[in-house]
Amino acid sequence: MSIVTVNDVNKVYEDKNNIPVQALNQVCLKMEEGEFTAIAGPSGSGKTTLLNIIGGLDKPNSGQVKVAGQELTTMNRNALAEFRLKTLGFIFQAYNLIPVLTAEENAEFMLLLQGVSAAERHQRVKEEFSALGIESALLSRRPNELSGGQQQRVAVARALVSHPKLILADEPTANLDSQTGKRLLDKMKEMNEKKGITFLFSTHDPMVMGRARRLLILRDGEIVEDRKTEPASPA
Ligand SMILES: Nc1ncnc2c1ncn2[C@@H]1O[C@H](COP(=O)(O)OP(=O)(O)OP(=O)(O)O)[C@@H](O)[C@H]1O
Ligand SMILES: [Mg+2]
Repeated sequence: MSIVTVNDVNKVYEDKNNIPVQALNQVCLKMEEGEFTAIAGPSGSGKTTLLNIIGGLDKPNSGQVKVAGQELTTMNRNALAEFRLKTLGFIFQAYNLIPVLTAEENAEFMLLLQGVSAAERHQRVKEEFSALGIESALLSRRPNELSGGQQQRVAVARALVSHPKLILADEPTANLDSQTGKRLLDKMKEMNEKKGITFLFSTHDPMVMGRARRLLILRDGEIVEDRKTEPASPA
């Protein structure tokens, strides 16, 4: 079953001098449930824009975007917020942790909004943290007391704990050393295989591209390549 259908999507931004920038140009993309797909392409090619549009964070100027059976382009703000809460996990290029909350409170935030009990929130966060190698001493720290890589892992834990249907990740390994990056990919792959969560992530990292089962290449707002890749042997 398709989980993402993007049809003839155009996105035009205006820069400060009102000069139009075509960030996405007639993009079409169909993804099936269970895919593990990477988007690569030069800086400025439209990767973040495409992820934001599929996540309902930004609207296209024209075209349709259907995710998990729902047409996003005609939904209002409240409906979009509800859709994101129930269906999606996000891992952003900047981690978007909430500065006044501790690592644990950040990680359980989606569960809190979903009405999950305190005991279960605690249990699930504890499990994710240990799976991601986040020491329990970090639970009570605020984002500004964590390293970049630690903040990244808290953001990943936050996306994973709510067991979304689709996880969108914008350069999830960008600020990690290669060992931590590999561990993160292993974890994402495990969630993909065990829980059937679909992943779509952008990357500049050849290691990450190599782990994807499908690779999309964007250039100047267009998908110029779309290929299935062989499963990489574990490094
Ligand atoms: N808010 C904005 N206003 C104006 N132009 C924008 C805006 N956001 C993005 N753009 C432009 O749209 C194009 C696509 O940007 P996007 O951020 O999607 O690229 P990207 O592939 O994610 O790049 P990177 O690899 O550097 O993260 C770029 O030319 C960028 O300058
Ligand atoms: Mg980007």
